[in-house]
Amino acid sequence: MIIKKIYSKLKNPLKSYLNRLGYYKNILKHDAKLNYSINQSDFAFIKNGYKINRNLLSKEDLYHFNKFYEKNQFLFDEKFLYLLKFIENKYEKSIKEYLGDNYILVNFAVMKTSKLSKSVSECWHTDNLGHKLNLLICVDGDGSIPTFYKPGTHKKKYFPSIFEEMRMSFNINLFLTDSAKIIFDHKKGDCTLFDANAKHRGSYQAGTMERKIIIIDFMNKDKFLDLRGHNENESNKSNIKYPYREMNEIKDYQLIPEKIFKDLLRFNFFSKDVIKNHNGKHYFQYSNLVED
Ligand SMILES: [Fe+2]
Repeated sequence: MIIKKIYSKLKNPLKSYLNRLGYYKNILKHDAKLNYSINQSDFAFIKNGYKINRNLLSKEDLYHFNKFYEKNQFLFDEKFLYLLKFIENKYEKSIKEYLGDNYILVNFAVMKTSKLSKSVSECWHTDNLGHKLNLLICVDGDGSIPTFYKPGTHKKKYFPSIFEEMRMSFNINLFLTDSAKIIFDHKKGDCTLFDANAKHRGSYQAGTMERKIIIIDFMNKDKFLDLRGHNENESNKSNIKYPYREMNEIKDYQLIPEKIFKDLLRFNFFSKDVIKNHNGKHYFQYSNLVED
């Protein structure tokens, strides 16, 4: 009976771990050059793997970004274009410095977090994708729901971790103490950019107010395409579930109206490759379950 119980708890983490072993070499292949440049660089942002810009958001920025949180909102309209313009103006240079010129937006989510939020992100983890930059834009917050970051860990070569996988089944902080950490506290108007190859975790219990964060992920484009599974040999398809594979269910997607779509493609870092085409319409895979 106990064995059966343990087995059922271990089954999914094991499956997930084995799946990650199926594509981790694709990650390493694309990260090799980046690993080298990160380890050689003298730029503070690259050496540290993160940068925090306090109070970067203007009143106008906050006005537009708050609209993402209004009820029953379409995500992809003028405010999304405003967001991309903001990224282009304030972050394109830094992201290029880190990831190189050939980078794209690979994920976007609008998050609300409180001390009651239950999430696997509260355990130490990497995002399991090797080098990827996460931009966290704090639309509201008083610093009481921070992200913790282990300094220096962004330089490690990616390898899947069975212990991290277990956090899906057992909600405990496995094998890592809370010593030596940087705190991204996320106060209203702050923006934080960090390499999600580093160990990081959210910390929610001490939250005194709801935190609103817009999170946008960036990655090398060729790496993204590889992790979409599109480069697999057609005659020799594996059973690997790639992290950016296209989902079949359209309910996991948000419609991008035609008018906005054309404007989106004007941004160098917005690629057609992140779009799902369905019945002549364009969709963006959207999940507000992403981890911080
Ligand atoms: Fe994360």
